[in-house]
Amino acid sequence: METTPLLECFDVGKTFQTGSGAVRALNNVRLAIPQGSFVALVGPSGCGKTTLLHILAGLDTNYNGRLISRCQPNRMSYVFQNPRLLPWLTAEQNVAFVLQARGDSRHQARKAAREYLQLVGLSGFENKYPSQLSGGMQQRVALARALAVEPDIMLMDEPFGSLDEISARKLRSELLRLFQELQKTVIFVTHNVTEAAYLADKIIVMGTHPGRVIDEINVDLPRPRDYDSPEVSQIARRIISQLHI
Ligand SMILES: Nc1ncnc2c1ncn2[C@@H]1O[C@H](COP(=O)(O)OP(=O)(O)OP(=O)(O)O)[C@@H](O)[C@H]1O
Ligand SMILES: [Mg+2]
Repeated sequence: METTPLLECFDVGKTFQTGSGAVRALNNVRLAIPQGSFVALVGPSGCGKTTLLHILAGLDTNYNGRLISRCQPNRMSYVFQNPRLLPWLTAEQNVAFVLQARGDSRHQARKAAREYLQLVGLSGFENKYPSQLSGGMQQRVALARALAVEPDIMLMDEPFGSLDEISARKLRSELLRLFQELQKTVIFVTHNVTEAAYLADKIIVMGTHPGRVIDEINVDLPRPRDYDSPEVSQIARRIISQLHI
């Protein structure tokens, strides 16, 4: 079913001015993010994925072209490659912090924080500090924090890129479970082509020099998908072939 896209870009471009001249990071990007979809932005290092995600999130307004956002800024949340937790706060306090910042009472925020930590499989770890948690557990806290504000859309920049493969596999399948259960829209940046094929409904393949969209792949495979299946591998190979690797 076609619905009005939550976000749309028309001929979006971005140039960074640097001491050694202008860097054209994005050129003529046109894309649509359908509501309720899981969209992967995939491409090699330097193709402008993070730059594009910043523009889509409204974190960077200094671009040319047109962005149409049908999403309120306070209905978006952003997950970074590193968990970016506050080290002096416990897992529960890290999640509660963003809820209190948006006006929840301390009691409400702590209650919701516990619920979202449970949802990401961290019951029993509420009172641990980030330094007492593994990298995967810290990323789960970051995921709980992003979900706790009940966003319509989550923008995720290589959130599992620094994890070992076993933790990353587990978190990918849990993210999909949450995506389906909570009915979010997700934009997920990765340079892992199999991860993109496993997760996404729609894959936007980006190339470099300048950063641009080179292909858009709709993935119709039913979920749950098998990460190691020939169907997922076939889509991963199609991405690779577009990137001329
Ligand atoms: N603040 C900046 N100033 C100057 N150039 C920048 C800046 N940020 C990004 N760039 C340049 O813009 C291009 C795109 O960068 P971007 O970080 O968006 O790539 P990416 O696809 O996210 O790469 P990676 O996979 O390594 O994270 C690169 O050539 C980069 O050097
Ligand atoms: Mg990046």
